[in-house]
Amino acid sequence: MPAPPSEEARLARLVRAHDRWRGRSVFNLLASENAVSPTARQYLGSDLAGRYTLPMHETIDGELVDNSYAGTRYTDEIESLANAAATRVFRARYATTRPLSGHIAAMSALVPLLPARARILAIPPTEGGYDGYAAGFLPSVLGYTVRPLPADGPGHSVRADSAVATIRQERPNAVVLGQSFFLFPYPLREIAEAAHAVDALVFYDASHVLGLVAGGAFQDPLREGADVVYGSTHKSFPGPQGGLLFTDREDLFRQLDPALVWRVFDNAHWNRIAALGQTLLELERTGREYAATVVENAQGIARALHDLGVPLVAESEGFTRSHQVHLDRTHLKATFGVGGAGLCRRLERQRLLIDLVGRIGTAEVARLGLTPADMPRLADLLVRGGLRREKVGPEVLAWRKQFPALRFA
Ligand SMILES: Cc1ncc(COP(=O)(O)O)c(C=O)c1O
Repeated sequence: MPAPPSEEARLARLVRAHDRWRGRSVFNLLASENAVSPTARQYLGSDLAGRYTLPMHETIDGELVDNSYAGTRYTDEIESLANAAATRVFRARYATTRPLSGHIAAMSALVPLLPARARILAIPPTEGGYDGYAAGFLPSVLGYTVRPLPADGPGHSVRADSAVATIRQERPNAVVLGQSFFLFPYPLREIAEAAHAVDALVFYDASHVLGLVAGGAFQDPLREGADVVYGSTHKSFPGPQGGLLFTDREDLFRQLDPALVWRVFDNAHWNRIAALGQTLLELERTGREYAATVVENAQGIARALHDLGVPLVAESEGFTRSHQVHLDRTHLKATFGVGGAGLCRRLERQRLLIDLVGRIGTAEVARLGLTPADMPRLADLLVRGGLRREKVGPEVLAWRKQFPALRFA
């Protein structure tokens, strides 16, 4: 039965209200989100949103065909254009923009390349690792055994000596480097050398730092020894929700790319791939300045918060080299009587969005046009709104209105 029109009107109101609220009325400091450029948004809403395409070279009823669908004369070229842009932006020999998300990109890399019952090393969630690599999640779905790779340096950074010792002792099939709490580059050369010496592959989950890798502001995983790099395209990378994957190794890509369809997903989402292609092309022009601004903003807001007495992790290391800054929640609670969840809710009422686990991300505010010079004011609003419980919402809204358009788009 069709939904009554009143429900449609309600839905339309909700979407409009969401767009007003998240798109125009708050400063978003969620480390896992970003704002999509106007052209990319237009492509998300294009006719591509409902289409299939499946390039193939097979004989059907005696005729050689190059696609199992009809009407695909533009989709295949859109995909090759997006993939080619990805290879240029990440200086990779091979790339695919098909993975539907960061999590699916992880499956896309692991499923075709690892044996059944593989043994992997991954950073535990208690040390900033991605929950998906914990025993009950991807490893149990894929039948792998996961052992901890320690991230026991400041701010859950990975120390070369303990990582190398663990790899030598465990002799895994793969080392999966991936953190949701991600402040500092991995000692990748040392890890890759140790992993390759025991015939293990190195997978680099760049979900959080993909935009910084694209702009050369973090680390260069392929040049430093990673075999396959993948991640989400909507955290520090300012694209549509989705994933991508790249590698320099022809042997791995030949194994991997044809194995994705029907094992990890069927159709890819071509509107998303067009929007991702657009974002990659925009970053080819502006990515270096964008990524540098994001990291400088993170270091700037960390210093400003620290100067205002807010406890942060990894002070000895300069707080961060990524788009994230981490509140020291234990000291926060002891000093100010509020934890991550309480602070998040208080700030949300004042139009400032951070997450419940104490991460502050500077990617989206850089897209809005905020620079390091703006970080002391932003830190001051966070402290007044979150810790002193002042009503800073109107001031935040007035300031937010000064940034109506996206930069780097
Ligand atoms: C390190 C890491 N990998 C993968 C993912 C999953 O990404 P997605 O939400 O795009 O599937 C996340 C999500 O936060 C993450 O932090």
